[in-house]
Amino acid sequence: MNNKIIAGNWKMYKSWQEATKYADEIKSIVSVNELSDNVDLLIFPPFLYIQYYSDAFKNSKVHIGAQNCHNESQGAYTGEVSANMIRSIGATHVIIGHSERRQYFNEFNSLLEKKIHSALFHGLNVIYCCGETLEQRKSNLHFDTVEKQIKEVLSSEYLNDYSKKIAIAYEPVWAIGTGKNATPDQAVEMHQFIRNTISDIVNEKIAKEFAVLYGGSVKPENASEYFSNADINGALIGGACLDPNSFMEIYKAMN
Ligand code: PGA
Repeated sequence: MNNKIIAGNWKMYKSWQEATKYADEIKSIVSVNELSDNVDLLIFPPFLYIQYYSDAFKNSKVHIGAQNCHNESQGAYTGEVSANMIRSIGATHVIIGHSERRQYFNEFNSLLEKKIHSALFHGLNVIYCCGETLEQRKSNLHFDTVEKQIKEVLSSEYLNDYSKKIAIAYEPVWAIGTGKNATPDQAVEMHQFIRNTISDIVNEKIAKEFAVLYGGSVKPENASEYFSNADINGALIGGACLDPNSFMEIYKAMN
């Protein structure tokens, strides 16, 4: 992966008709082959649409990923999808540890470590999410929380061997889908803390080059403010990516 990334997480939105229209709209806004070589554009639709998206953007600079994967490669896990399956239909990325997965599906750090292991083993790039709740921030536990989320999940082996295949998305839970984005200063402070944490685990060089994205109410109106800071290497976008024009405006702000 590049260390500059704009990623759109659709979550559980869009019908099939809306999903196919969206692909056409993205293609009409920008010739996808003329996208920058330096900024990765990633789309994370629901599982059902991944095959369609992988085909629609085949051999282009748009990369497709899944919003989650199971930690085993296969097995009797009704309703689940493995990293192996995701890779086999042409997707290249996966989001792991999104706060909605942690909150509603009880995904905890030791499970997320296994999911990352499986994703990397099957050749997927990983966007690993971390971030504190409002209560944790109010209690001044935000740094401890994020440090734990990183240290319990990303081993020195992963960070050494896969530093170009993992990005971290810092997403304060209180800023997700609320319209209350973290200030650029709050984001930068945490991104620097994340880099220091990576540096503790491996070394300063890897920490400096590591892709650290911000997520939480990013929109066209506030994107450039984040991206003007060298510690913010892009964004993981929810609500604003559902509109192809807003999504591409944010992408342009990164260039
Ligand atoms: P949001 O979501 O942009 O709607 O706040 C971000 C995310 O959940 O990744």
